[in-house]
Amino acid sequence: MATISLQKLTKDYGNHKGVFDLDLTIESGEFFVILGPSGCGKTTTLRIIAGLETPDSGKVFLDNIDITDYPPRERNMSMVFQNYALYPFMTVRENIAFPLKKMKINKTDIEQKVEEMARILSITDILDKKPGQISGGQRQRVALGRAIVKEPKVFLMDEPLSNLDAKLRVGMRAELKRIQMSLKTTTVYVTHDQIEAMTLADRVAVLNNGYLEQLDNPMKVYEKPANSFIASFLGDPPINFIDAELEKDGSQAFLIIGDSKIPINRDPGSYAGKKVRVGLRPEDIKVSSKGIPAKLTFIQPLGRRRLEHFKINSTGAEIIRASSSDQTLNIGDVCFIDFNEEKILLFDKENGKII
Ligand SMILES: Nc1ncnc2c1ncn2[C@@H]1O[C@H](COP(=O)(O)OP(=O)(O)O)[C@@H](O)[C@H]1O
Ligand SMILES: [Mg+2]
Repeated sequence: MATISLQKLTKDYGNHKGVFDLDLTIESGEFFVILGPSGCGKTTTLRIIAGLETPDSGKVFLDNIDITDYPPRERNMSMVFQNYALYPFMTVRENIAFPLKKMKINKTDIEQKVEEMARILSITDILDKKPGQISGGQRQRVALGRAIVKEPKVFLMDEPLSNLDAKLRVGMRAELKRIQMSLKTTTVYVTHDQIEAMTLADRVAVLNNGYLEQLDNPMKVYEKPANSFIASFLGDPPINFIDAELEKDGSQAFLIIGDSKIPINRDPGSYAGKKVRVGLRPEDIKVSSKGIPAKLTFIQPLGRRRLEHFKINSTGAEIIRASSSDQTLNIGDVCFIDFNEEKILLFDKENGKII
């Protein structure tokens, strides 16, 4: 059991860099992902949890014990970094055994644990090689093995897969998830990769400029982003943003996009008569016999799928649709863009907050 709680955590590097007023609780056994663009404060947060960095203010609790001033070795956490930091002159076996030796565990037990770890990670055949003699993917497995074998209370992982090539990354991602699910060790995983966050996380915390912007399960963050930054950060291809205006005519509300007037079933409230940003996911766009007139300008084939780029006739805005590849539309065709009204997201044009 290991619950981590961060309370009003702040580390200010000046120039609005660092992390600010961070409050969050990571539940025991949870695969918790911290997601955000480069420089948003992910590594800083992780290093504070590990004890490698001291916060300016705020506290870190582990199972309700204030560990803010504990040195790293007294926290019972294992950290895996992007660059695996293996000992180059030790064999794989010695690398994995190293933390156990430091823990003064007896030799027979160490051998047994290392063998078991090697089996779990499918690296038995390279146990007697040196890091320089194995591939990047294997090195990352060894680094994981060394972190896991200690049986820590918490795993901390800082972009551990980002040095691997795309195919290996997908494989290791699945493996990591499988291992974590069987060990049920509380895991805090940092990444800038939204797909990693979506596939790995029980819950995801989105950071931007050092501030927590949203905390929820990944599907919730995808479907109900708190603001337009998060909406555009999650999703591939990214969400479309279209300028529009909300109008109310009696009890009926409309979305005005260029010279199209689309009835919608939501109350615009104080946004009636105001400009808004419409967020529309590429997979939620349909081509229909009614809707917004647009022209197909470009097609990106992606095997079973294809991405169709449209230009809205009246505004010139570009919009991307993800469709199956058996479509009959061709470049230059004029058609109507349509969408299920429930799928659109509306954002405040000034502050980006969801309406
Ligand atoms: N030791 C430091 N001194 C000064 N600025 C730092 C230090 N560590 C990080 N920063 C700055 O704080 C911001 C957050 O850094 P970091 O936590 O490493 O971001 P991330 O891991 O999300 O990419 C960055 O702008 C970075 O340049
Ligand atoms: Mg980082």
